[in-house]
Amino acid sequence: MTILVTGGAGYIGSHTCVELLQHGYDIIVVDNFSNSRPESLHRVKQITGRTFQTYYINLLDKKSVEKVFLDHQIDAVIHFAGLKAVGESVAVPLQYYQNNVKGSLILFEVMEQFSVKKLIFSSSATVYGNPKTVPITEDVELRATNPYGRTKQMIEEILLDTAHADSSWSIALLRYFNPIGAHESGLIGEDPEGPPNNLLPYISQIAIGRREQLRIFGNNYPTADGTGVRDYIHVVDLAMGHLKALEHMQKNHGIEAYNLGTGKGYSVLEVVDAFERVSGNQIPYTFVKRRPGDISSCFADPAKAKKQLAWQAMRGIEEMCADAWRWQRNNPTGYRIISEKTPMQKPTSVFLMH
Ligand code: UD1
Repeated sequence: MTILVTGGAGYIGSHTCVELLQHGYDIIVVDNFSNSRPESLHRVKQITGRTFQTYYINLLDKKSVEKVFLDHQIDAVIHFAGLKAVGESVAVPLQYYQNNVKGSLILFEVMEQFSVKKLIFSSSATVYGNPKTVPITEDVELRATNPYGRTKQMIEEILLDTAHADSSWSIALLRYFNPIGAHESGLIGEDPEGPPNNLLPYISQIAIGRREQLRIFGNNYPTADGTGVRDYIHVVDLAMGHLKALEHMQKNHGIEAYNLGTGKGYSVLEVVDAFERVSGNQIPYTFVKRRPGDISSCFADPAKAKKQLAWQAMRGIEEMCADAWRWQRNNPTGYRIISEKTPMQKPTSVFLMH
């Protein structure tokens, strides 16, 4: 089976590519490397000992997307490509709607044109907004609170309408909680551009000496220790969720949303503690005021994915932190080989990369 993976060079994409290749799937990767580096795909090849083709294209360029479908017999698509920074989405919403929503629309149109109707969409728990109760089940009303989240919600709605209009589509909307960790090889992991927005990469960069101290956003939430609670999930468990959804799709049509989380929440202080224990590094922190838009507590009810996809997260918080730390320790500047200031060597005239 050949799977087209958009955004395959990104954090979740690259880990999913590894699992797909190791489980016997063939893949084609499409990426514009706007927030990722070709090096991650070289590492995917190194880990798996397998090769695949990569197209350096933008989904907004419909002709190029069509070319990929003309070149290959594609059985299913896993669509990761998209911009994902909440703060940035508030500042430049049109870029987010253009890139995420329009890019997705073009992809879905081309899929329809070529009768490729199996799709896994990379959604996010952010579509739930500020949940009224936790754990969160898939059937609650979606109320994203920022442009990034609304792009995910809109794409979900577009896909719902599409699947309802044409019952031959098989679509899984995978709502990720907080992916952290890295592949156990230490070869691929999360590599944010600039100062990380998310907790784990920030902590890892402190441990490696790139940042001084963690600012914990709020210590007066109604949680056990006052800091925010999230459902952190190992990125390899998350990647496996995609494989399980693909298997399920072989036998089922229609559209379903699934929470991919562990079902267990950890506070910021508990994560700091776990990271300190496994890395042997102290993480200095200070409490600052709440980050605007943050919620108190968010964790999944993952029962639906367990029941229908036979999937559940296997890895605990210590393994997540240990793997994140191994990646960071082995790659202090991420995929940047010399230093953070070295610009990425983007291919300029190459369309198909090997
Ligand atoms: C964020 C995004 C969410 C996205 C998710 C992807 C926001 C408001 N939400 O979620 O849309 O889907 O990342 O993983 O950005 N924290 C600190 N100090 C830091 C960083 C984080 O105290 O320097 C705290 C936060 O307040 C939160 C927890 O750590 O309680 C996790 O934060 P983060 O990793 O940014 O994830 P989310 O806020 O859940």
